[in-house]
Amino acid sequence: MASPERPTAASFVPEGTDLAGLAAAAAACQGCGLYEAASRTVFGEGSSTARMVLVGEQPGDMEDQRGRPFVGPAGRLLDRALADVGIDRSTAYVTNAVKHFKFTTSAGGKRRIHAKPDALEVTACRPWLNAELALLDPEVVVCLGATAAQSIFGSSFRVTRSRGVLLPWPAHEEDGVQAPYALATIHPSAVLRAEDRESAYSGLVSDLRVVAAMLPDAAAD
Ligand code: URA
Repeated sequence: MASPERPTAASFVPEGTDLAGLAAAAAACQGCGLYEAASRTVFGEGSSTARMVLVGEQPGDMEDQRGRPFVGPAGRLLDRALADVGIDRSTAYVTNAVKHFKFTTSAGGKRRIHAKPDALEVTACRPWLNAELALLDPEVVVCLGATAAQSIFGSSFRVTRSRGVLLPWPAHEEDGVQAPYALATIHPSAVLRAEDRESAYSGLVSDLRVVAAMLPDAAAD
């Protein structure tokens, strides 16, 4: 088990394996404390030849129950936005910055309420994301929301300021990850929470169009 001061998944990540091997190993991850309350690890999934990787924050309640990323309301909205820009989700790889659901429980104890992962938890989980990206070697990484964007670009990154722009991948030699570009946009849940959902949705679609234009042959027929 990792030290409580600086949790990390690093010792749980196997070397020399494929995505299925990573997913199997991640099921036993205790790299930070989030595994204790969550039902299971929700690892990334999608095409092993994906040119685009989408990174969300963490699994939600439904993802925690089903063990798959972006299968709840936010996932349905994401699928619609991808379809609107001509991208078939099955050609991409979808994952999260944090692989366990973090939540608080409502007063009656019946509802599990999303809680934002903190910087230590995001950093602790980064070795899994690094391992996924190293195997996939994508052309572009799309960060959905601030948690994913700050995991990639650092804590001073602001999605509101820099969204929808293809940015050079901020390479760190020690993590072994290379991707030509990364792009940040809002999280699909932010669209669901927005007062003006239509305009928030158009913003998400217009950001994703930038990626669709760069990967024209990934577009669905
Ligand atoms: N929100 C996320 O960030 N990821 C999911 O998988 C589901 C909801």
